[in-house]
Order: sequence, then structure tokens, then C-alpha cells
Amino acid sequence: MNNINRRRFLAASSLTAIAAAAGKTNAVTWRHEPGDDHRGPLAIASGNGLKAVERAWELLKQGRDTAEAIVLGVKIVEEDPNDMSVGYGGLPNERGVVQLDSSVMHGPTHKAGCVACIENIKTPASVALEVLRRTDHVMLVGKGATEFAVALGFKEENLLTERARKAWLRWKANHGPNDDWLNPEQMDWKFDENGNGTHTAVAQADTSEIPYTTGTIHCSALNDKGELSGCTTTSGLSYKIPGRVGDSPIIGAGMYADNQIGSAGATGRGEAVIQSCGSFLAVQFMDMGMTPTEACTAVLKRIADRTKQHRLLNDKGEPNFQVTMYAMRKDGAFGSACMRPGGTFAVCDDEGPRRLQSVPLFG
Ligand code: GLY
Repeated sequence: MNNINRRRFLAASSLTAIAAAAGKTNAVTWRHEPGDDHRGPLAIASGNGLKAVERAWELLKQGRDTAEAIVLGVKIVEEDPNDMSVGYGGLPNERGVVQLDSSVMHGPTHKAGCVACIENIKTPASVALEVLRRTDHVMLVGKGATEFAVALGFKEENLLTERARKAWLRWKANHGPNDDWLNPEQMDWKFDENGNGTHTAVAQADTSEIPYTTGTIHCSALNDKGELSGCTTTSGLSYKIPGRVGDSPIIGAGMYADNQIGSAGATGRGEAVIQSCGSFLAVQFMDMGMTPTEACTAVLKRIADRTKQHRLLNDKGEPNFQVTMYAMRKDGAFGSACMRPGGTFAVCDDEGPRRLQSVPLFG
């Protein structure tokens, strides 16, 4: 019995036990999707990555390395000024500065490269790939990341497009309590005069919509040699506190790839994904026998079970934010699930690029 078959055999007998470990199982529908039966090479991305998977697939067919193929795929979206969630044209932080995050992980060498809060460089995933290839480090942040990129010949340029600047000005004029600093009544903490805190449950659920966007692109690819890589790139949470780092550049949170098991990535509320090590967990769940769709669903269930702040829950006690998980197994099975309806993902293989619906955890 090979590794994958062994896992599938274990899956049949132990999914209930694994799912129990993932969280309370009673409310979860463990859907099996066509992608779970897919085999062989492919590229998978978040729903905004249709062009990225098409490009990555073309490059895989030409024999390009999987990490290079996905980085060149997401570069199309990073360079698009009309995409306000990634790279050039991305929405800025609360000071009007675009700060970008990205990570790349290369399965065959199990090496990772990341950049966080990098400014003035359009294509952070390409810089993350150079961190992976040219340094003995994993992560460069802020000025150091920009200096590294410039040293390698990346062009420094203003990333704030007129459209993003106007959106930021509108937010500045109207934001009121809608920034990332919690007002006393939004905090789950009360402080005494010495600054000592006690955590408290906030009595009222806040069902108002979170007014931010966290657009991000994730892409993973598997070639015909069984090599795989993953990449995630973003401008992060719009109007964030300067210096805020989301899940995208954190290995194991917004992306993780293990050549022996598979690859996973996340988009959506990065804080929730970081606190559950979402992508690492998805890969671990696949190693324990879950299909990619089940692994994504189990991660979301874990996040939902661990979300305690009332301002992040709706009146049914469900998270009021979106997270979408994407997973690809070493044999080519793939899947995606989202916390709330509406998540989509993109896939490309010999049948061409297509966009599919992610399975929602909550209706
Ligand atoms: N998931 C992207 C972010 O939170 O920055």
C-alpha cells in the first residue's frame, strides 16, 4: 500500500476521530468534492487567480520550477493596478502607505522565503523567492526587505494609485470608530489604574459589518515529477495600523508546502488564520487522511471554535468574517472551503483554467 492509499484507508476508518480533534463535529457537513478525486499536475489559486493559474500551468508545461511558475503567475495580479488587494494598486495602511506581505515555499528543498511590510516594490512574491534562493534567512521585513530588493535590481516606485489614494481619503474622512484600534467597549479587556488587565466577555454581540478588505492571492502548483510549491501575496488589511503583518508572509499561517504531503494557503482575516496556524494545520490534516476539502473545512471549524471575541461573532455565534482555505495534495487532489458563502478558487490543468465554488462552513 503506497503512502497515499495508506492515508485514504486510514481516512475511511478515522475521519470521525480526526474531525473530533479538529473541533465539534456535529454542525459540519464533510462534503466530498470532484477536486478530491483529481489526480496529477495542476495549479490552484484563490478565486482572483484565474490568470495566475493559467500562466503557472503554461510555465509548468515548459518545465519551469514550481516555485518560479507560481511566482510568475501571481505577478500578473501583483502588477495589475485595478486589483486593489495585492501589489501595485493595493489599499494602503492608515497613513496612506502601501505595505505588502508575501511568502513562497519550495517543496523539493523545503526552503521558504518571505517579506513583510515591504514598501515601494510592486512584486513582493518575486522578492520572497529571492530571499528563499539567495539567502540563508527566511523572512525580511520593512526597510531591510526593500533594501534587499533594490540591491537585486527591483525598481522602487510609488505603489499608491490615484484610485487607492482616493479610497484611503474617503476612509480617513469617515472612519470614526472603524479603525483597528479597539474602543474600550470593543475590548475584551478592562484595565485598572496600574494598567493591569483582566479579560472579560463583552455582553453584546456586535453584528455590524467589518468595514475592511483583505484581498490576497494564494497559488500552489504540482508538476509531473511530484514537486510542489506554494505562494501567497497581499497588500494585507486595508487601512491597517502601520507595521501590521497578516498571515500571508507567515510560514504555516497564510501558506505552507511540504513536498511529502501537499500545500495549503489562506485568504481573508489573517489574524484568525495566524492564531490557528491555518495552512500548516490543513497540510497536517491531509497527512492524517483528510481529503483537501475536508482539511480546509476542518481548519475553518477550528478557527470558528476558537473565535471568542463577541465583536467577531454574529447572533448565531458564528464568525462574522471570511476566511477561505485552499489545499492541494501531493497526488493532485485539491479542494477549498470558506467560512461564509461566496468563496471561490481557480484551478488549471490539461482541461484549462476554471473558477470553482469553495465549500462554505456556515450557510
Ligand atoms: N489574509 C491577508 C491578511 O490578513 O493580510
